[in-house]
Amino acid sequence: MKALTDEQRARWERDGFLALPGFATPAACDALIARARALVDGFEPGEVASIFSTTDQALATDAYFLGSGDAIRFFFEPGAFDAEGRLRQPKALSINKIGHALHDLDPAFDAFSRAPALAALARELGLSDPRLMQSMYIFKQPHIGGEVVCHQDSTFLYTDPPSVLGFWFALEDATIQNGAMWALPGGHEAALRSRFVRAGEGRVRTEVIDPTPWPAARPENGFVPLEASKGTLILLHGLLPHLSGANTSDRSRHAYSLHVVEGRAAYPADNWLQRDPATPARGFAPAGG
Ligand code: FE2
Repeated sequence: MKALTDEQRARWERDGFLALPGFATPAACDALIARARALVDGFEPGEVASIFSTTDQALATDAYFLGSGDAIRFFFEPGAFDAEGRLRQPKALSINKIGHALHDLDPAFDAFSRAPALAALARELGLSDPRLMQSMYIFKQPHIGGEVVCHQDSTFLYTDPPSVLGFWFALEDATIQNGAMWALPGGHEAALRSRFVRAGEGRVRTEVIDPTPWPAARPENGFVPLEASKGTLILLHGLLPHLSGANTSDRSRHAYSLHVVEGRAAYPADNWLQRDPATPARGFAPAGG
């Protein structure tokens, strides 16, 4: 049985994204929300606060970030700390995201990410050897949830040829007010504009391929808001320009994002996200299965 109708498939080809409302049940969303809360509860921010207080903050921050490709790590909102390195508000309301291997290291996220329905979608959308490369739990906190500027996911997970497919789940209703994504329909037909790469000595940099700036994310420039009800799955082509606004509301906008790449495509050694060679990115089969 096909995972998408012909009409859905045609919209995917035309737009570079596709929303599937009701893909995940409210109970499944609530279970991930509870699991993320438990992970945050068990996280001791002192270790990161101390990283932030070292003399070379950028380097230490990058080391924590660069080592997160096969770990579960916690990233704060900009401005979460005061001048003394103390959190301005409770930890649970200060974290921007958790990344980037929830799908391998946490049983609840593992099971959710390796649902047969997702494997079927990846196969149907052209991945012959799909590898689960990156997962993020995104909080988009009330009032302080920051914007994510316009980008293509292949910038961050480059393969040759480009192959990344994004699965983005609204765990709570995503509205324009609380920071829903916006996308440029059809923008996936354009070439990749930049790569985010390791630059040696624990640093990263953006390698610009095409310096043309993205147009401002407004309806008159063709952008559309991807408002999504709880449980909606939004499929994102790796070359689709998309972004999300700041959360100006008093409601959070929790989302779970999973990125899959083609295992038969080359995965460059200078991609920012690297894994321990002993534990390469796996496919949709359960561990040991
Ligand atoms: Fe993205």
